[in-house]
Amino acid sequence: MRGDGVTRVMVTGGAGFLGSHLCERLAAEGSDVLCVDNFYTGTKRNVAKLAKHPGFELMRHDITFPLYVEVDEIYNLACPASPIHYQFDPVQTTKTSVHGAINMLGLAKRVKAKVLQASTSEVYGDPEVHPQREDYWGRVNPIGTRACYDEGKRCAETLFFDYYRQHKLRIKVARIFNTYGPRMHPNDGRVVSNFIVQALRHEPITLYGDGQQTRSFCYVDDLIDGLVRLMGSPDELTGPVNLGNSTEITVLELAERIVAMTHSRSPIVRKPLPADDPRQRQPDTTLAERALGWRTKTPLEEGLKRTITYFDDLLREGEPSPLAVASGAG
Ligand SMILES: NC(=O)c1ccc[n+]([C@@H]2O[C@H](COP(=O)([O-])OP(=O)(O)OC[C@H]3O[C@@H](n4cnc5c(N)ncnc54)[C@H](O)[C@@H]3O)[C@@H](O)[C@H]2O)c1
Repeated sequence: MRGDGVTRVMVTGGAGFLGSHLCERLAAEGSDVLCVDNFYTGTKRNVAKLAKHPGFELMRHDITFPLYVEVDEIYNLACPASPIHYQFDPVQTTKTSVHGAINMLGLAKRVKAKVLQASTSEVYGDPEVHPQREDYWGRVNPIGTRACYDEGKRCAETLFFDYYRQHKLRIKVARIFNTYGPRMHPNDGRVVSNFIVQALRHEPITLYGDGQQTRSFCYVDDLIDGLVRLMGSPDELTGPVNLGNSTEITVLELAERIVAMTHSRSPIVRKPLPADDPRQRQPDTTLAERALGWRTKTPLEEGLKRTITYFDDLLREGEPSPLAVASGAG
């Protein structure tokens, strides 16, 4: 705590998609926010609005190296999250998860901070049970191309719980399921951003497999609310806690909805399924509901609308988009 009672919060990966929304929320609530990022996938632009905020500070740092700062709470979000980005340099991905966790846990131990890990539904791998509950151990291929991410995140969870048992650290582990919203990367291959950008450009929408695989999508504001509630929960609640939307939709249905909402002329084309792509992933969020009083609030239609507007603005800077044409705006 600062001398005047203000909480000092560090967000690693704070210039990324989720991190930038989290920084905004924490700064708006009056915390001192230290955003730490190496800008691997994040950008200064994502936090540009915060630059003038008196309680906000941006630091370029790679969390695979130790960091010494005085903080009360640490949200550890640093790690590329999309397959294209995390498979580009898989060794660095594992290092970020594992060395990064060790460094953040070491820091939390030294300054007696509370520390939250952004884990992932990928720890369940290609699951045999639906929906996934926190006590399911998962089915992960340890030598596949996704393993750098999946196993890195699993090892980070192990480290968090060993620091908890061995050093009595105050830890929180959130298992985040597919989240979408403004500031996702336009070209990172994730399904929502991919479909929206392709639809806005009238390019073919690439559907992997038959499109019958299901996903559940959580809007970013809901997810951030879950992270903040988890950090504020009593010390006994370590998690892991699933955070995500439990309403499923097929990937084909998502594509069709986005085409309709963007008034796009894009055809839907099929491509082979990538390796280890799960058929179905759906969180059981009973624990989050019971322990945090948390549930998703934003309907898919509303979240998609806001996300489409974001990408439309982004593309409009470079080229005319179908939304602009449809509304007669240019
Ligand atoms: N978005 C999702 O649907 C989702 C789902 C599950 C888990 N998560 C987790 O949430 C976190 C944030 O994901 P996101 O979607 O915002 O991804 P993102 O790629 O937008 O953000 C990750 C941020 O971490 C930074 N970073 C990467 N390596 C770093 C390092 N070594 N040191 C410092 N900074 C580093 C990047 O520059 C970026 O700003 C990640 O840990 C991810 O695994 C996200």
